[in-house]
Amino acid sequence: KKANENASQIECIEFGGWEIDTWYAAPYPAEYSRNRVLYICEFCLKYMNSDYVAWRHKLKCSTKHPPGDEIYRDETIAMFEVDGRKNPVYCQNLCLLAKLFLGSKTLYYDVEPFLFYVLCEYDDCGYHFVGYFSKEKRPSSQNNVSCILTLPIHQRKGYGNLLIDFSYLLTRVEQKTGSPEKPLSDMGLVSYRNYWRLVLCQYFLNIMDSDDYKKNGLSIKKMSDDTGMTADDVISALEGLRALVRDPQTKLYAFRIDLDYCREYVTKWEAKGHVKLKPEALAWTPYV
Ligand code: COA
Ligand code: NA
Repeated sequence: KKANENASQIECIEFGGWEIDTWYAAPYPAEYSRNRVLYICEFCLKYMNSDYVAWRHKLKCSTKHPPGDEIYRDETIAMFEVDGRKNPVYCQNLCLLAKLFLGSKTLYYDVEPFLFYVLCEYDDCGYHFVGYFSKEKRPSSQNNVSCILTLPIHQRKGYGNLLIDFSYLLTRVEQKTGSPEKPLSDMGLVSYRNYWRLVLCQYFLNIMDSDDYKKNGLSIKKMSDDTGMTADDVISALEGLRALVRDPQTKLYAFRIDLDYCREYVTKWEAKGHVKLKPEALAWTPYV
């Protein structure tokens, strides 16, 4: 039997006291794929066959956070950078877990070329896994995110947006621009569209009264450099905002930005009160 056929039997995972229904099959080894429930340690991500084994593991697992370096901490959240080469087992377990919620994407065992950025909520009991994104180490890669996931129990609370924002923060520190690996899932696409629109709206509101704008004006290149978004993604976000107007005579494009709409969009998002990224809380230097 192929791993995938076996894998389809896992209906839910027990994770950090939650029972979470799975969405897709993942290629766990056959002996773990026969059960309806898979038990996963919320700290080290080890997968187990039974309640009993999981209980025993909990008694002796001393890990209370992901491996790797804590590179960001603010209020109730922290972010860890985990190197696929240094912590292959954790990263493989992470990819298998992610596959349960991803229709495509096929990386499970070849984790070495990737870095994993793991988002946690922390409290007195430890650092609780919320979501992550992976990123290729290869410096020439144009992708600043390979895979991205928020655990279903934490979705629609702004964490996906926070992870995306974090990925662009790293890209700006690297003085580059980047874009997520394609194809994106439907959920990935709506999340990115929301993010790109939000960022540009915020950007326009901030820049309009600045000396920078009065002196240097606005260009696709400048928006791309300032946000870390690729020029293509800036253009598609501007099109979404219907902010690019082509003069039929000169064939040149002009920006037409509806600042009232921008203000409304940003205000509506901020009213949700989600955790915001604080760039100054990042302690990180790019991978070399
Ligand atoms: N339906 C409609 N809009 C959605 C959406 C959904 N299921 N998920 C996100 N959005 C849009 C909404 O505009 C949302 O804002 P709102 O909740 O105020 O309406 C906005 O994106 C931000 O959502 P957020 O809460 O920050 O995202 P999230 O934490 O739920 O995570 C993903 C988004 C994509 C990471 C998450 O859905 C996920 O892990 N999906 C499974 C894995 C996957 O497909 N990954 C992407 C491909 S690699
Ligand atoms: Na990937």
